[in-house]
Amino acid sequence: MPTNNKRISILDLQAMADSNRRIAMLTCYDYPSAQLAEEAEIPIILVGDTLGMVVLGYDSTLPVTLDDMVHHGKAVRRGAQKAHVVVDLPFGSYQSNSMKAMESAIRIMKETECDSVKLEGASEQELTTIQQLSTSGIPVMGHIGLTPQSVHALGGFKLQGRTPRDAIRLLAEAQKLQDAGVYAVVLECIPTALGAKITEVLDIPTIGIGAGPYTNGQVQVWHDIFNLYQDLKPRHSRIFSPVGQQMLSGIRQYMAAVQDGEFPNSQESFMLSKEVAAWVKNNLPGSEHSMKQAEQVLSEAIRDDNELI
Ligand code: KIV
Repeated sequence: MPTNNKRISILDLQAMADSNRRIAMLTCYDYPSAQLAEEAEIPIILVGDTLGMVVLGYDSTLPVTLDDMVHHGKAVRRGAQKAHVVVDLPFGSYQSNSMKAMESAIRIMKETECDSVKLEGASEQELTTIQQLSTSGIPVMGHIGLTPQSVHALGGFKLQGRTPRDAIRLLAEAQKLQDAGVYAVVLECIPTALGAKITEVLDIPTIGIGAGPYTNGQVQVWHDIFNLYQDLKPRHSRIFSPVGQQMLSGIRQYMAAVQDGEFPNSQESFMLSKEVAAWVKNNLPGSEHSMKQAEQVLSEAIRDDNELI
């Protein structure tokens, strides 16, 4: 019977934070990226609703649907068996009431086989939802600071918690989230001192993105660390490998090789045996009858050598 007891759990993540081992979380949206992250032994993968912006080409995360998250969450889970996989609840799938949130979270947990869900904000409604989800056995990661699903209310993608009043509010929100039962919280785009203060005050792990180096962990977006968008370099990200440029150069090389007739070469093509090639040469083009014979000889020859990879 398959078991999932090798997966990294919320207890493992708490143990990492308690023993001062920093947690590296990375977004993935599909099977190959999840496989690579798994091979690198990333402990926690976020199937973020940034999906909408970096994969689907929207201006914000708002258009992302529950179906989108389920579709991509399933692909990521297929690629990563050990990593803890957390899937975002998209905009509109949890804000209106806890019942709707519960249905959305249950669908995500069942269909993607992920380990937890993440939702943004700390309003009374969201706190009630978090309590209900966590008491029903669904681990929830919180997310405060710059919460992209509220981009219109925030007036854009801007640093949060800059004034003393905002900083105090965010600290209070972090505490309320912990009390409501989140197992960890993402702190997005807040000043370093506030990231450090929230981390000091909370018992649960904090995962920062643009929140300075003193959080228990960091999260980065796949497309940012690989510079897949050359005209977009958020200040809080670092390009760890310029794969975007390499991909562009690869596309150009491929195109040139096709245009020059240099691709595919004989190693990249399927050859007939000498005998069959001679037969084809001598018999084609020919009558309807010889065409039929040729088809038979060819199909036998191909059957003998049909491994494509
Ligand atoms: O959707 C996402 O990728 C996120 C991270 C930026 C934290 O929420």
